[in-house]
Amino acid sequence: DKSPLSGVRGRILSFKSNPFVDAPEDCYDYFPDGLVVMRDGRIVDVGEYADVAPRHESLSADAIDRYEDALIMPGFIDCHTHYVQSPMIGSFGDTLLDWLNQYTFPNEIRFADKDFADNAARMFFRQILSQGTTTANVFATTYASSVDAFFEESERYGTRMICGKVLQDRNLPDALRDKDADESIALSESLLEKWHGRGRQLYAVIPRFAPTSTPRQLQLAGELYRRYADKGVYMHTHLDEAENEIEWVMSLFPDASNYTDVYDHFGLLGEHSIMAHCCIVREEEWQRLHATGCGVAHCPSSNMFLGDGEFKYWEAKKSDRQVNVGIGTDVGGGTNFSVFRQLGDAYKVAMLRGKSLDAIRSFYLATRGGAETLRFADRIGSLLPGYEADMTVINLRPSEFIEWRLNFSDSIFDKLFVLMTLSPDNLIRATYVSGNKVYDSLRPHKFLYA
Ligand code: GUN
Ligand code: ZN
Repeated sequence: DKSPLSGVRGRILSFKSNPFVDAPEDCYDYFPDGLVVMRDGRIVDVGEYADVAPRHESLSADAIDRYEDALIMPGFIDCHTHYVQSPMIGSFGDTLLDWLNQYTFPNEIRFADKDFADNAARMFFRQILSQGTTTANVFATTYASSVDAFFEESERYGTRMICGKVLQDRNLPDALRDKDADESIALSESLLEKWHGRGRQLYAVIPRFAPTSTPRQLQLAGELYRRYADKGVYMHTHLDEAENEIEWVMSLFPDASNYTDVYDHFGLLGEHSIMAHCCIVREEEWQRLHATGCGVAHCPSSNMFLGDGEFKYWEAKKSDRQVNVGIGTDVGGGTNFSVFRQLGDAYKVAMLRGKSLDAIRSFYLATRGGAETLRFADRIGSLLPGYEADMTVINLRPSEFIEWRLNFSDSIFDKLFVLMTLSPDNLIRATYVSGNKVYDSLRPHKFLYA
C-alpha cells in the first residue's frame, strides 16, 4: 500500500552538528558512494550504498538517480533575501539609504500589479532552484499581491519557504507606504491566516526596518508576532547594517539604548526572529540577541556591494553567547542568487579582518546552520531519516578547467573550498524538493515546470 521508494546515489555530504562548537571532523557524514532513499517527500534511509541498498528490496534500480562526479548535499538555505528586488539587482550603486530611495522603493511599487509579481516570483524560483537553494526566508513588499504571488509559486514547487507582507508606514514613497498602521497589521494577519502552515509555507511578520515603521506599527507588529509565537510564525527584519542607518534609528528612537533595543522594546525579539546583516553590533546587542534566541543572516555580497559594513562571525560566535548564523544572498543588495557564492565572499570579508572561514564551517552555515537559524534543524538542512527530501547535487566537473584543478585537491572539503572560491558557472547539476527533481541541468527545459 505504501508509495514507491526512490533513491539518489553518489557522493553524499551532510552535517549533523555545529562545527563552531564541536570538533569539526565529528560534525558531518561523508559517504563516497552513498545512497539516499526517499518516500513521500521524506528521507527514509541514508548511508553507504553497500549498507543501505540491501535494506530496501523494493527500491528498484530504475528508481535511483545516479550521479558521477557530483556531490549530493542538503538543499542550501538562504536566510535573507528579497524576491521583489530581482528586477533591479545590480543597479548602479550607492550606499544603503540612497540606494533604497533611488532604486529599491520605485521598483517595489510595481508589485501592486499581481501579474508583475507573478512573473518576478517565477523568475526568482528558477534562479534559486538552479543555484541549489531549496528554502529561503524572503521579503515580499507592502501589497497582498506580492505575498500571494510568492507563496503560489512556492506551492507549485512544494518548497519550504518563509515570506510575508512588509510593514512600512513612514519614510517611503506614498504608493509603497501603509496608510494606516492598524489596517496594515490586519492585512498581515489575514495573509498569515491564509498561508502559515498551508503545505510547506510559513509566514513572517516583517517590519522592513525600524526607520520605515511608526512606533505604533512596530508595537502592533510585536503584538501580532507574540500572538502567533507558539504557531511558529517568524519575525524578519534588518538590523545594524550601516553607520548612517544606525544614526538615523537612534535619532528616530532617542529613548532606545541601541538599535536592537528598539526591536526589543516592541517585543520583536525571540526564537523565530531573524535579523539581516548585523554588521555593526555592540556587545550589549550581541548579548541580547543571544539571550532572546534571535538568529542572524550574514549577507556578504550585499555588504560589499552597498559598502556599508561587514559581518564579524567571530563576534557572533563567541562561545559564551553564541548566536545562530545563516547565510543570506540579500538580493538585490546582494549581486547573485547563489548561497554557494556567498561563501566565497564570506571568506574574503573575514580575511579583510585577518580571520579565515574554512569549508567545513562554511558549508555548515549554508545548510544545517541555516536550518538551526530558522529553527528547522529537525526537518531540513541535513540528510537524515525522517527529514524532508530537499537536496542539491553539485557538479564536480562544471568545466574542463575545474575538473582538472580539482585533481590537485584531495579531500572533499579542499575541493569545496576551491569551488566556493572560484564559484564557477554550471555548478548545480540537479535540485530536489520533497523528493522531486525540480531542476536538472541536462534536461532540455531544465525545470519541472514552465
Ligand atoms: N534595509 C531596509 N530595507 C533594506 C533593503 O531592501 N535592503 C537592504 N540591504 N537593507 C535594507
Ligand atoms: Zn535585505
